[in-house]
Amino acid sequence: MSVAIYPGSFDPFTNGHLDIVKKASKLFDRVVIVIAVNPDKRRHYPAKDIQMAIDETLKENHLSNCEAITWEGLIVDLMKRIKATYVVRGLRNTMDFNYEENIASVNKLLYPDMEYVYFRAENSAISSSMVRELVSHGVNVSNFVPAPVEKWIIKGG
Ligand code: COA
Repeated sequence: MSVAIYPGSFDPFTNGHLDIVKKASKLFDRVVIVIAVNPDKRRHYPAKDIQMAIDETLKENHLSNCEAITWEGLIVDLMKRIKATYVVRGLRNTMDFNYEENIASVNKLLYPDMEYVYFRAENSAISSSMVRELVSHGVNVSNFVPAPVEKWIIKGG
């Protein structure tokens, strides 16, 4: 059974992230979306709320082999614990590639059995910080985030 994790800050989870989840769900038996919490980094939206909104998004999109969890710590430790051998990430441009490769090479040293799989990002203009900025100016972001994210995270329920 192939198990992949898809880690990210997801602050918030966008349609760009959902596109990557859909692609990964076709390739792997199980996909675990990991809301990575770094205690030194300030989050704009609480991880637990994002997890709930992702869960609802997965249900709405019938992505039954995908689930969301929150994790504080190294992703390699999580991978060993849940027996995941693949890490999925989306690439928008060469800057993303260079950023990912730095992290990937460190993670490979820590856990040589893992493999990184990159998917081309379809909605490369949609980023979490862009969504946050639009929201702060009162712009409707329903075209940029899944409906549960808009309902529970942006509008607060
Ligand atoms: N389409 C559009 N935009 C996308 C996208 C896609 N498919 N995929 C990512 N993005 C954007 C996000 O919207 C976000 O935009 P922003 O910069 O405007 O906020 C940006 O790319 C990156 O966000 P995200 O995908 O949420 O992940 P991240 O880069 O914040 O995540 C981790 C980094 C969590 C994967 C990394 O820090 C990590 O692995 N941490 C765990 C701790 C660990 O193991 N550390 C050891 C590493 S050596």
